[in-house]
Amino acid sequence: MSARAEIDTGMEGFRFWPGALSMSEQADLLAEVLAAEAAAPFYQPMTPGGRPFSVRMTGLGPLGWVSDRSGYRYQSTHPVTGSNWPPIPGLLLALWRDLTGADQPPDACLVNLYREGAKMGLHQDRDEADLTAPVLSVSLGDAAVFRIGAAGGGPTRSLKLSSGDVCALTGPARLARHGIDRVIAGSSSLVPGGGRINLTLRVAAPASQQS
Ligand code: SIN
Ligand code: FE2
Repeated sequence: MSARAEIDTGMEGFRFWPGALSMSEQADLLAEVLAAEAAAPFYQPMTPGGRPFSVRMTGLGPLGWVSDRSGYRYQSTHPVTGSNWPPIPGLLLALWRDLTGADQPPDACLVNLYREGAKMGLHQDRDEADLTAPVLSVSLGDAAVFRIGAAGGGPTRSLKLSSGDVCALTGPARLARHGIDRVIAGSSSLVPGGGRINLTLRVAAPASQQS
């Protein structure tokens, strides 16, 4: 894999590697995600309050994050098909090793599909058993306006995430509030049908249950 250049975000623990994936790595990764879609189709999750997300989701790995009337959780099966999730692609596992230096491998990869107009409100990723393990995020396709602010509140700021960019929530930024204000439609032609795919790698299960 080529060297990945990290830039200083000025926010401790929020790490950013713009252009970490080459065009061919982006195309390879997208092909793996689209191949997995046959077994684990994108579906429209509901908030616990019963509102549909504008983002469609699927997952890869032993565990997948789901949301429905019962709340947020990780589970080993796709909520629509009932099948296990497809494996996490090797390219993502290698990226996790290279960039995070984390002790454990990820056991969950949430795949978010943003078609034109989709967005994601500010939230924290806190459904994982160990909230010290990083979350690594990979962007493919159309650029998006990402918003981030400290866990405890206060001002937020926004930055553009483009296809091939990778960022991570680690250490003091692990519980940062973050979301997607909007997707810049037509800024990339990578995703068939248009839009953006975001992959987030997480360590979801408690250490005692890691295989
Ligand atoms: C997420 O927080 O699950 C997704 C963030 C993104 O789409 O970049
Ligand atoms: Fe998140």
